[in-house]
Amino acid sequence: MSVAPDDIEAAKASVAIEDYYHEGRLFPPSETFKAQAILTDRSLYEAAASDWEGFWAEQAEQLDWFERWRSVCDWDQPFAKWFVGGKLNVSYNCLDRHVLAGNGGRVAYYWEGEPGDRRVITYSELLDEVEHFASALRSLGVSKGDRVAIYLPMIPEIVVSMLACARIGAPHSVVFGGFSPDALRDRINDAAAKVLVTSDGGWRRGAATPLFENAASILAETPSIEHVVVVRRTGEDVSGLMRAGRDHFWHDLVAGANPHCPPEPMDAEDLLYLLYTSGTTAKPKGIMHTTGGYLTQVAFSHRYVFDLRPESDVFWCAADCGWVTGHSYIVYGPLANGCTGVMYEGTPDFPAKDRWWEIVERYRVTTLYTAPTAIRTFIKWGTEYPAAHDLTSLRLLGSVGEPINPEAWVWYWENIGGGRCPVVDTWWQTETGAILIAPLPGVTTLKPGSATFPLPGIEAEVVDDAGRQVERGGGYLTLTRPWPAMLRGIYGDLERYRETYWTRFPGRYFAGDGAKVDDDGYLWFVGRVDDVMNISGHRISTTEVESALVDHPSVAESAVVGAKDETTGQGIVAFVTLKAGIKASAEHARELRDHVARRIGPIARPKALIFTEELPKTRSGKIMRRLLRDVAEGRDLGDTTTLADAGVVEEIRRRAQTSPTED
Ligand code: WT7
Repeated sequence: MSVAPDDIEAAKASVAIEDYYHEGRLFPPSETFKAQAILTDRSLYEAAASDWEGFWAEQAEQLDWFERWRSVCDWDQPFAKWFVGGKLNVSYNCLDRHVLAGNGGRVAYYWEGEPGDRRVITYSELLDEVEHFASALRSLGVSKGDRVAIYLPMIPEIVVSMLACARIGAPHSVVFGGFSPDALRDRINDAAAKVLVTSDGGWRRGAATPLFENAASILAETPSIEHVVVVRRTGEDVSGLMRAGRDHFWHDLVAGANPHCPPEPMDAEDLLYLLYTSGTTAKPKGIMHTTGGYLTQVAFSHRYVFDLRPESDVFWCAADCGWVTGHSYIVYGPLANGCTGVMYEGTPDFPAKDRWWEIVERYRVTTLYTAPTAIRTFIKWGTEYPAAHDLTSLRLLGSVGEPINPEAWVWYWENIGGGRCPVVDTWWQTETGAILIAPLPGVTTLKPGSATFPLPGIEAEVVDDAGRQVERGGGYLTLTRPWPAMLRGIYGDLERYRETYWTRFPGRYFAGDGAKVDDDGYLWFVGRVDDVMNISGHRISTTEVESALVDHPSVAESAVVGAKDETTGQGIVAFVTLKAGIKASAEHARELRDHVARRIGPIARPKALIFTEELPKTRSGKIMRRLLRDVAEGRDLGDTTTLADAGVVEEIRRRAQTSPTED
């Protein structure tokens, strides 16, 4: 992994804790919260510290196993195996065992479509649908080990598909519905998926997004796909695009399917899913998650971080199942714990800016889990929208995806939580599978903006450049011991796994995040220290956007940086050098931005694009991204003496100031 010393310095200097933490208040758990919390003492931390393996074994015992494991953790760095020899099935744990325990009538999801259609789905009903669809997949020739790609909006069928795959032991690869056809194709091909599950479309801000049409445009280039299943959602007529023998409507398949599909006993280390995420290169990585350790840790973290009471809580993780947050805290954690969740298809401003608060009020949501970017958007919209609704059902709030600034934290606490609800800031990654660093709300005194401490069973250290532990101050976040839900590798490229996470600091997992430890030992995340941007809590690599740009026939070279953005955390700013003879214009800038959106997906569309005759490079030819970030953020440029041509920078700065920025 390439981490330039430049970036390290920038990360360390970017936020002093004192600047960040000007709020200065401490938020211990209130007596009212504590009186009902499932945990109010340090017993879990102590248990994990005194017998780490025993602690994780105890968490695994909360699940139903067909066969017990022989050993808790085999660690052959960087390869971990958890609950070795154990056999279980994820869909059985998420569904059957609750139904068998007499809880089949409990609501699994209150689902709400964007146009306002609603469904209440109980555990029994969900099991029934999963068995039908699992049988349908089997009838299409899917068997244990075959990969299934899922490209669906936030409709119940996305959860049904995931669990049906888990039931028959077919690893799924969910591709976010906002990704482009090209991105879908690359992910299908990397995984060599046999079946694709998609829909005619999904609703987003009142418009139908054409998912099947997107898929159909690339299916000639995905040789591994044998069948496509199409859910009817928007009612768009897609029959003209469907190919007989290959493409089937979901309802037709399910209508004729065997209603019984016994769960496949899976090895604890069998692949449960792949989920692609951006790294520092242009090629997304297929992160591998397996069965026993993953389910153990998502259930554990969901229970304790969110102080779960499955009989009475209504848990709303307002993410999309296309991201790991949705996998772990919409689907697997909550269902393993038998709790009731909320699922919403659309955007928070449709039909009006109070849609979320209407949902909280309607379903009496007790726990809301969302991202700082959403909170900052709500701040911008104004307090009248939440204030117009009864939010008194809420008792706990969560944040994920990027550092939360104390202002946003306090706003969330006051305006959404009514000053009653702890705000848990949760740090984790696609690779970690589950939350690793977060408070326990009945135990930890909160500081707005800090993710506080590693959870019980997790060992983390901040280190300096040389890999020495930093007791107080800034450096890099590393993990010093394996954890059950950790990635087992990058699909098809185990060497890249070692190289990406385990070589920068020998013996440690390097997350790519800068972090500081304050005087009280609290952890403060300060952002990525590599070439990964964080746009609205979504990870996008600079190289991925750069390669989309240079792939346009007019572009000679490009450099992309993430510049601070008040709402989205970072925004994408692209610097582009055109080929000789091509004229820079505002229309052309728009065309290039659209081109990136088409190539990757709308989330990757640069918010600003600056044409430049040349890019600033060191004498050895390396593009000076830090300098471009300074330009993009309007900062003083400081020392530019390492530049090959200092004049280039002045020119870029002049152009940056006159280039329009668009939303
Ligand atoms: C990166 C992982 C984890 C699900 C969503 C994102 C950043 C995540 C926090 C937080 C500061 C955070 C990190 C991390 N991040 N949560 N609470 N505080 N930074 O998953 O797409 O895999 O991104 O998101 O930079 O490395 P992801």
